[in-house]
Amino acid sequence: MTRDAVAARAAELRALLDHHSYRYYVLDDPEISDAEYDRLFAELVAIEHERPDLARADSPTQRVGARPSAAFAPVVHGQAMLSLGNVFTDQELADFDRRVRERLGHDDVHYVAEPKLDGLAVSLRYENGVLVRAATRGDGTTGEDVTANVRTIRACPLRLRGHAPPRVLEARGEVYLPREGFLRLNENQIAQGGKPFANPRNAAAGSLRQLDPAVSAQRPLRVFCYGIGEWLGGQAPASQEALLAMLAELGLPVNPERRTVVGYEGCLQYYEDLGRRRADLPYEIDGVVYKVNEVVEQRLLGELSRTPRWAVAHKFPAEEAVTRVLGIDVQVGRTGALTPVAVLASVAVGGVMVSHATLHNPEELSRKDVRIGDFVSVRRAGDVIPEIVGVLRERRPPDATPFIFPDHCPVCGSPVVRDEGVVARCAGGLVCQAQRRETIRHFASRRAMDIEGLGDKLVEQLVLRGKVATVADLYRLTPGDLMDLERMGERSAAKVVGAIAASRHTVFPRFLYALGIPEVGEATAAALARHFGDLEDLMAADEERLVEVPDVGPVVAHAISTFFSERHNREVIAALRAAGVSWPRLERPAAGPLSGKTVVLTGTLEGMTRDEARAALEGLGAKVASSVSARTDYVVAGRDPGSKVRRAEEWGVPVVGEEDLRAWLGEGRPGQG
Ligand code: IVH
Repeated sequence: MTRDAVAARAAELRALLDHHSYRYYVLDDPEISDAEYDRLFAELVAIEHERPDLARADSPTQRVGARPSAAFAPVVHGQAMLSLGNVFTDQELADFDRRVRERLGHDDVHYVAEPKLDGLAVSLRYENGVLVRAATRGDGTTGEDVTANVRTIRACPLRLRGHAPPRVLEARGEVYLPREGFLRLNENQIAQGGKPFANPRNAAAGSLRQLDPAVSAQRPLRVFCYGIGEWLGGQAPASQEALLAMLAELGLPVNPERRTVVGYEGCLQYYEDLGRRRADLPYEIDGVVYKVNEVVEQRLLGELSRTPRWAVAHKFPAEEAVTRVLGIDVQVGRTGALTPVAVLASVAVGGVMVSHATLHNPEELSRKDVRIGDFVSVRRAGDVIPEIVGVLRERRPPDATPFIFPDHCPVCGSPVVRDEGVVARCAGGLVCQAQRRETIRHFASRRAMDIEGLGDKLVEQLVLRGKVATVADLYRLTPGDLMDLERMGERSAAKVVGAIAASRHTVFPRFLYALGIPEVGEATAAALARHFGDLEDLMAADEERLVEVPDVGPVVAHAISTFFSERHNREVIAALRAAGVSWPRLERPAAGPLSGKTVVLTGTLEGMTRDEARAALEGLGAKVASSVSARTDYVVAGRDPGSKVRRAEEWGVPVVGEEDLRAWLGEGRPGQG
């Protein structure tokens, strides 16, 4: 292939990848599968590897670059990054709108209402359409250079779309971590023995200020743009509405929830509507921002020292509140871990009543020095359990009592042992009724075996009455066993037994999750299931093999292998299987004769459809790709094969015919191309 042709293909791939990133991250409307994207990406990587002279800084392959030499060098913003004034009540909002109307001298002001994301403000500087620098807000005048890290955010274009981008454009926006990314990140943090982030904001800030951009790249950060700083070359849009449309047109991600509303009523309606949908948004917001739409009106209104008079943030009720500690309980988890929990005077936090907050572990309890009688501030962040942020020391009453952590399990009286980490554990194992109860609760829970009707209260009674000791005992229960329990009639007893029986037919990832292996959450269970395909193989794996599974680090691998090496656990698993718990075997890329090989199909095959050929090849362990690259091992060409054969020849990839494919299927071995 000539240099020009390869260069043209590289340019084509870059354009394709940019287009598909844009569809995925900005429009949230992908046109191709992730696998397809990965294939195109791999092809470009291969080209740039072979021809480093063709590599370009704005190539989608170049998102993770070298570490910046000076970490986070100061950046003076072309135009100051302002902050926003806050309003908390309808009255304060009405006052804001009144001031705006008075200064403008007319009613019915048009505002653009936008969600206020809880992340980190950044300024993205594009020169002639190319991202040249990204900076944090800092003090508003001077921020920090985070270009290397921002480049790893796939939603952030390295090059603007369209033919005539402004000569200089500083786009302002918020970098954030979607809820799901936050949960996944924390699951990983914990699995790797690290500390979870308290909220998505901290996680986003911590991720963006990573010294190593390769670490940032692993964090699923996103960005939404909501304004501009410097704009040189061409006319800047005359309204906020037009500006956001223009940013979107340039390929920058802009929040689709933005609306233009009229007056105070319009603002309030938007606020209430978004407030109701808040929990369903894929990211956390802490309020709404209203901006006077017309830029001429914004100019008329002007700015105070740090905040504009033409915009305001309308905050949702605080996610943090102050209350009093009434007592401290110690809860025993299913692995025996003892968690101190503060019992609080009920308080509304972010619109939800909170009466308990976790203190995580004895070390955290003593570090925060929480005493009974103290005033504490409590935080709720998304789906995370409420926690104590800190003690208000100046309000500590003289009789506040320090809590002495028990050295015996409050449930079974067994000694408490401290493991290498910070966890205190009841040494009672399954003698401890709390551990039994929690193990069974977890097993029956919705995301595990999903046994309807087997709720917390029922499990508690079953354990207290000695009717079940292990999860396998559930499958021996008869309606008669249940009928003498509280609030259990004949019909409900039969129903629960039916639900238990029905849970026998499950799927492998659920079963794995249901076992309650320490450190193994849903995502890890799914990854293990995918990797191993079946239980025997997983149980036989040593730690070395376990760390080969994506997202499994040494801590998790150790927990898994310890779990399966315990005789009791093996017995319970055997009893579950004997009771008929089963799942369909997962399809797993078999170690077939073509395993590890990448094959591309082209042209019309005589004896089979494209889909049949694909399935047959996959059955032999091959990966079937759509385009030819240096990584392709074989091209299978039918009638009228087209350009793929030419490309194969250019790359030196063997081209085989349909008869060879048949031979592979028959003989199970690749022939000579
Ligand atoms: S506008 C001149 N719009 O909130 C206006 N800010 O409290 C400057 N924020 O520093 C900001 N979402 O980090 C604006 N849609 C939005 C926003 C937003 C989040 C953040 C931003 C800013 C802070 C001010």
